[in-house]
Amino acid sequence: MSLVEDHPAAAPAGDVPAPTTRPRRTRRTEALRAFVRETRIHPRQLVAPLFVFPGQGLREPVGSMPGVERVTPDEAVRDARALEALGVGGLILFGLPADKDAVGTGGWIRDGIVQETLRRLRDADLDLVLVADTCLCEYTDHGHCGPLLADGRVDNEATIELYARTAVSQAAAGADIVAPSGMMDGQVAAIRHGLDQAGAIDTAILAYAAKTASAFYGPFRDAAGSTPAFGDRRGYQMDPANARESMREMAIDVAEGADMLLVKPALPSLDILAAARARFDVPIGAYQVSGEFASIEAAAQRGWLDRRRALTESTTAILRAGAGFVITYAAADLAAWAREA
Ligand code: PBG
Repeated sequence: MSLVEDHPAAAPAGDVPAPTTRPRRTRRTEALRAFVRETRIHPRQLVAPLFVFPGQGLREPVGSMPGVERVTPDEAVRDARALEALGVGGLILFGLPADKDAVGTGGWIRDGIVQETLRRLRDADLDLVLVADTCLCEYTDHGHCGPLLADGRVDNEATIELYARTAVSQAAAGADIVAPSGMMDGQVAAIRHGLDQAGAIDTAILAYAAKTASAFYGPFRDAAGSTPAFGDRRGYQMDPANARESMREMAIDVAEGADMLLVKPALPSLDILAAARARFDVPIGAYQVSGEFASIEAAAQRGWLDRRRALTESTTAILRAGAGFVITYAAADLAAWAREA
């Protein structure tokens, strides 16, 4: 007996047949939607940024990033334990030194704030990947990403040598991964060479390969006190208009020994992320930067966006475009939500 005979009213003779391909069939219930879902956020794919400053027992809110705080090393260990309990994959450290100078000494000395925090985190024996941002803009008094030439431009060769020193000290302090973010030419090769010479052959390099001179870093510079005192970073960070150039940057970094690549900012670079995923076989991550996060938070505070849905949707889109992991200020919340889902 056919269905039509059973329910003659369902398909009267002569009617236009209903389409046989009906994508809505798999959207009917949450069980079906979850069954066909292509992209999920797993807590292990999330990396939380931590801003650390010298002292003890102190926490300072970052005005432009609701929920984000600068913390002292002991508090960083507490935060790391909470992230570990949520199943987050790792954390990336940014330092706010007590003193700044023209060459960013605080970035590479043994007792630098990031190095001190790394040692504490390593001693805490956490099930987390420890990443150190390898740059000097938080440590220079002029706010640029390396020492300057007489004409005010960043001295590429002197800078990459200092990045290598920074990376070696971060590796010695316990970093699993160093992440050069200064966009200097040759930085990955210089760091790999420095690490290998120092015997840190197992420390991996996550190259901020495709990093544009983005307007979306504003709140970070507020958090890290790293706004350039003059000029901008367009002489070393990429023009956001260039996708092919970002492929070239990534190919260079892979050739120089990058173990992983980072695309930044994330949502404004989804095309680059997808192209990179198709082209390179190393792990690729994306950095959902401060301005991406702050825009959502600000709109949510005004009731213009649903915070959880907006953060989940944008992170899902970043993963869907090809990122294997995401650095995000919402890592703890996203991990908690992912565990509920
Ligand atoms: C350091 C660095 C920056 C960010 C990450 N590493 C600032 C910059 O390039 O000005 C930005 C991260 C964010 O906005 O969340 N070079």
